Amino acid sequence: MRRLLIAGNWKMHMLNHEAVSLARQLKLRLLGVHRVDTLIFPPFTALTSVAEILSDADIQLGAQNLHDQRSGAFTGEVSGEMVRSAGGTWVLVGHSERRQFFGDTDAWINRKVHAALEAGLRPLVCVGETLEERRGGRLEEVLRRQATLGLAGLTPALAAEISVAYEPVWAIGTGVVATPEQAQEAHACLRGMLAEVLGVDGAQHCAILYGGSVKADNARPLLGMPDIDGALVGGASLKADEFGAIVQAGEGVVK
Ligand code: PGA
Repeated sequence: MRRLLIAGNWKMHMLNHEAVSLARQLKLRLLGVHRVDTLIFPPFTALTSVAEILSDADIQLGAQNLHDQRSGAFTGEVSGEMVRSAGGTWVLVGHSERRQFFGDTDAWINRKVHAALEAGLRPLVCVGETLEERRGGRLEEVLRRQATLGLAGLTPALAAEISVAYEPVWAIGTGVVATPEQAQEAHACLRGMLAEVLGVDGAQHCAILYGGSVKADNARPLLGMPDIDGALVGGASLKADEFGAIVQAGEGVVK
């Protein structure tokens, strides 16, 4: 049985003191949550201070990106080992904003996934189509390309370490959320593709999160779908109450 995972992507928000305050609020808000796993991705600059706050909490911590090399002359970049040393155990890889604005290609994303695993981090690999691709009937083709190239070279033994987020680009930050049926269809399709890379058993154990305008008032039906194993939340993760309400919605889901 896959446990639900609710993750918060803080993006380029939160100065250090704001991050510390939000982490403190979340710690209180999420006390008593037992059936759902929680995870937050603050900016790099806040990782160490947030890690300290979460040291006695059941909230996992990750970074929003990493470089594929372990160290070297790569000004402005951060390695997986650095994320580990700052207290992170997860890392987002291939978020659509990285693909769109920073040139992350499927091949580079694949190298980052391998680098993350080598550093002992769990990668949460993001995939998803644009509106144009969906309207052009290319949903499956895009997901297949991103999933098979992004996860190339992985073995079924690594399945438990990897999670995937389906984030349709048209739903990110737009307030337009995929319907539970649209999301379920994409997730089922992705699980089939994951089976080709990680084996049927591996794909069954791999969490596939939905991301794109998830809020407290739309989370429950999405999280109730059979192949939706959690949510990757952007905007709504910046308020402890709203994020807490999404986690609470997950607590109420019985599959
Ligand atoms: P959103 O962002 O919830 O603000 O749409 C989701 C994401 O980009 O991960």
